[in-house]
Amino acid sequence: MKHIIVYFSPAGSTRLIAETIHRRLTEHGQEVVLIDLSTKNRTTVEKTSLVDPPCCLWIGSPVYCDHAVPLVTDFIHRLPFGSSKSYAVPFVTWGGVTSGLSLLEMAGQLQKKNFIPLAAAKVLAVHSSMWCAYQPLASGHPDKEDLSQINLLVDEVLRTLKMEEMVPLDIKVLDYLSLALRADAVSKSLKAVKAAMPPLAVNEQRCLQCGECAEICPVAAITLSPFPILADNCVLCLQCVRSCPQEAFIFNGDTVATRIAAMADHSDEEKVTKIFF
Ligand SMILES: Cc1cc2nc3c(=O)[nH]c(=O)nc-3n(C[C@H](O)[C@H](O)[C@H](O)COP(=O)(O)O)c2cc1C
Repeated sequence: MKHIIVYFSPAGSTRLIAETIHRRLTEHGQEVVLIDLSTKNRTTVEKTSLVDPPCCLWIGSPVYCDHAVPLVTDFIHRLPFGSSKSYAVPFVTWGGVTSGLSLLEMAGQLQKKNFIPLAAAKVLAVHSSMWCAYQPLASGHPDKEDLSQINLLVDEVLRTLKMEEMVPLDIKVLDYLSLALRADAVSKSLKAVKAAMPPLAVNEQRCLQCGECAEICPVAAITLSPFPILADNCVLCLQCVRSCPQEAFIFNGDTVATRIAAMADHSDEEKVTKIFF
């Protein structure tokens, strides 16, 4: 059985989970391929063909606006149709507001592709839009305890794969949101949030056109002309804003942090890491 771990991780938490899965699988002597979907490392068309059966696809995304990042769901959409020996384990990292419908949707989409979901995980992780806040939501996560839950998840998946009569995950367990939160999640999307926001722009007096932002952008959305211009495929990860040595992007971190904190107060989802199998 080949294991393929595919992930997207602008700020690094999802990568940490992917690497933890990789390490544990390797310790168990498994064959593993690790694929980062960020543009620098991506040739998606070829990579989907890696997922030939028998295989177990571990697929990870940050939660953005209550859903998985479209780049990840697009990857699932492009997967070749699986066989009776195609398995999957979706995992997400979320910043203490809500994990929304991300896992349920990923698992459903994988099932439609004939991949059998065996397990899933939602991992609490520092909120990546709050780096300027005094105390970002979920700071300190993923911590040691979160990572030991991931090791447990890997152990459990390997145990399941060895069973003669495998019991797949009943994806209804991923439908865990309260009714109010669910209704909220249905109405939210990254696209809608982007449409409601003024486009990210730079203060041209500050920008030195160094290109650091274009370099770090995980979806290659930035061109310098001569100042940075963001294309439509920007996913709002804000790594450009965060990495700019001149703090040249026009961005009010306090307003963003206050809005996110209010959303977290409104959310009744327990702020913990959880694994499902
Ligand atoms: C645009 C955007 C939207 C986000 N939406 C949510 C959300 O709906 N719920 C939540 O709990 N965290 C949200 N977060 C926080 C991320 O899910 C969390 O920090 C994640 O671990 C980031 O993953 P990464 O470090 O792999 O990039 C959002 C972050 C960004 C940048």
